[in-house]
Amino acid sequence: MLVNAGAYPHGHFIACDINPDHIIEARSRAERFAIHNVEFQQASFEELLAQEQLPQFDFIVLHGVYSWVATEVRTTIRQILATHLKPGGLVYISYNCKPGWSPEEPLRKLLVELSRTEAGDSAQRARGALQTLNQLSSKLNYFKQHPSVITGLNAYIHESDNYLAHEFLNHSWQTFYSVDIAEEMNNIGLAFVGSATLVDNHPFLLVDEATHEAINQLPTDRQRQLAFDFACNRRFRRDIFINGTVEPQKSLLELVSHIPFAAIKDPEFITDIVTTPRGKISFGKSFMVELRTLMKQGAISFHQTLAHMGGKSRNEMEILRNLVFLIAAGELQVCQNVHVAGTGNRVASPTIRKMLEFIIETGAALPLPSPVLGNGFPLDVVEAVALVSWLDGAENREQLVSPVQQYLRQRHRATALRGEELDSQGRRIGKQVWNVLVPQMVGLGIFT
Ligand SMILES: C[S@@+](CC[C@H](N)C(=O)[O-])C[C@H]1O[C@@H](n2cnc3c(N)ncnc32)[C@H](O)[C@@H]1O
Repeated sequence: MLVNAGAYPHGHFIACDINPDHIIEARSRAERFAIHNVEFQQASFEELLAQEQLPQFDFIVLHGVYSWVATEVRTTIRQILATHLKPGGLVYISYNCKPGWSPEEPLRKLLVELSRTEAGDSAQRARGALQTLNQLSSKLNYFKQHPSVITGLNAYIHESDNYLAHEFLNHSWQTFYSVDIAEEMNNIGLAFVGSATLVDNHPFLLVDEATHEAINQLPTDRQRQLAFDFACNRRFRRDIFINGTVEPQKSLLELVSHIPFAAIKDPEFITDIVTTPRGKISFGKSFMVELRTLMKQGAISFHQTLAHMGGKSRNEMEILRNLVFLIAAGELQVCQNVHVAGTGNRVASPTIRKMLEFIIETGAALPLPSPVLGNGFPLDVVEAVALVSWLDGAENREQLVSPVQQYLRQRHRATALRGEELDSQGRRIGKQVWNVLVPQMVGLGIFT
């Protein structure tokens, strides 16, 4: 929410949670980062719905909520959607789904039951229940029948106690079939648009051709959607619904030609082999060379890209498809705006400045809001150190290197890493930030 609010300073955001701790933490971060366009409401969804002043929204985002609340709360959520989403407005709703979660559901039931006799607060009871179950598991036939659950159980052992309590001791926790969610949304006038997990919108990237064809033969959308969830054994969905109807599909070119996209990492590292649920896809050498060069300019539209790529013999559809696949695989990101790269006057908004300081102070991985991406740009703490030196006026890349080296030496003073190794790491990072990261972030409007 805060990253989005930072990326859209002219938007107005309302953040709601029933838990006062979450609201206090989020509000204090917003204050610290000088983000002033979020209104925080410590309220239940029921209380939110009852407010006379509650406005009509362009977007409503429910991340990690629908599977974690009771039936009556979901009813209230749907009432909010039905009455407070503008015509044409969009809802993002994520939830745990079947069939991917099915083998693990009994595990949760057993954990909840075991936790009833454990001592301590909910976090301690969750940890205790997990330990008891871990000792029992080798004797229980259920685990032999479902080896994937053992993998899940082993992963939970490493989670924090609070996460375990939140995840397992929540009696409302539920999984859904995506078709049932779609029906609930249809009943309040919302139509399914697609998945916010972009790769899920491209059947070709999910399953092989024979499977795709077999599923496509099924007579209804509902059957096809469910069959895809089974084909991918999906356990989590991030669905987008619209208040209205979905326009009939135009051609891919018409649909995307004006949409800008950009790299959110060093363009030289855009990979030429991406892994999708279906397998690996590789891209031609000359296509990648041209693309990496273009992406150094910041955000550019499909239309502009096509004009620059492939020479006279270019195959527009193939270029387009490759770009869509690279976006679906997360190598490129769709943007809000095309940005004409500025000269880089080393100006950062107070929000960006304060976020950089926060990253350095806490080591937290906090994406920086970019008005061009309309989203966050991921950043490493060491890069943040170099960027602050740049903002403070470093005149050449050497002047970025020494603060980074100093930071690394400080951070690793208790480890076996040798000083020279850290210094060469510092030189590499300083060079990279000066040559690549700064121009890229100027291109993405994070600095002006
Ligand atoms: C799984 S957490 C997800 C939190 C956050 N959206 C995220 O993705 O990190 C579910 C959240 O729903 C909130 N919640 C549960 N019941 C609620 C209700 N009736 N009204 C408002 N918020 C509620 C909880 O306090 C909790 O913060």
